[in-house]
Amino acid sequence: MSGERIVPATPAALRAAARALLEGRLVAFPTETVYGLGANADDAAAVARIFAAKRRPADHPVIVHLADVSQLAAWAREVPAGAAALADAFWPGPLTLILPRAARVTDAITGGQDSVGLRVPSHPVARALLREFAALGGRGVAAPSANRFGHVSPTCAQHVADDLGAAVDTILDGGECAVGIESTIVAFVGATPVLLRPGGVAIGDLARVLGAEPAPAPADAPRASGTLASHYAPRTPALRVAATAMRSEVEQLAARDERVAVLARTVAMPAGFDGAWHAAPRDARGYAQGLYAALRALDAANADVIVIEDVPESPEWLAVRDRLARATHGVDDDRD
Ligand code: TXA
Ligand code: MG
Repeated sequence: MSGERIVPATPAALRAAARALLEGRLVAFPTETVYGLGANADDAAAVARIFAAKRRPADHPVIVHLADVSQLAAWAREVPAGAAALADAFWPGPLTLILPRAARVTDAITGGQDSVGLRVPSHPVARALLREFAALGGRGVAAPSANRFGHVSPTCAQHVADDLGAAVDTILDGGECAVGIESTIVAFVGATPVLLRPGGVAIGDLARVLGAEPAPAPADAPRASGTLASHYAPRTPALRVAATAMRSEVEQLAARDERVAVLARTVAMPAGFDGAWHAAPRDARGYAQGLYAALRALDAANADVIVIEDVPESPEWLAVRDRLARATHGVDDDRD
């Protein structure tokens, strides 16, 4: 579907994409985390088209992507020392900082909040696009994940085409995303840093730079649609099952004539199993990288239920556990 909109990220395609952004069009592009759906962050009409394309409620804030840290001053009125230290340590990379917004930043970007989300991605295609855009005078590219509202994020160009089809003008192809889940989001708006979303930068690495782990997000944290419980959900009902209970769970479902799709990690496929079975990597990085593609494939298997083998409790699995908890939450309203 709409494969003609997927273009290899040649220098000419990058220049054309930067011009298209400046002219108010939408360009999907790869980042190291997931693909983003980009628009000129200074163009309110273009930003509004992002929300229309995703069918996402207009009051959800979007992250502004920058070519480098020098563009920060155009968007944030203040950069607390901890935020500067994290930017120094992890940019370019899978980290988003929520900072007090500069006076000129519009509500279309911030969802009406007094803060703005900023990130310098490290993917070479994203960097080249942002550099071309900056060379034309652009100050930042607003980009949520390039998925339809309620769906898991895209980790290759075809996922974007499958989700957004004709709603996006150009999809720059940068292959598969290396991180595979979204950026870590840390907010610097109150007295202490707050972890709004675990992601590509591990919490232990944040703690090493900050001197302490950021506080967990309070229940009344500013609206971050990625933190809604039902975010990142496949359409097929999904449940998490301990490794030790996998075989009996799958057998019981099959005995009730339920069609089962399985996302396994350590458990081997039983003889005679005739549903979709995806064997994920055992390590947290490899697992995260392939998670969304696996969920999309299992979702497409027309099963009645997706059974997901639970993952370890250790800190390096924090972001994956967060996404699995959302994928299996079973609530389907108010998704990003
Ligand atoms: O890895 C990523 O962060 C990807 C790539 C494309 O950069 N982007 C991404 O964007 O995941 P999105 O919109 O799907 O998720 C960003 C999250 C949303 O939950 C949004 O509500 C939250 O960041 N957010 C953005 N600005 C915010 C702000 N000022 N305050 C609180 N949350 C904010
Ligand atoms: Mg998203």
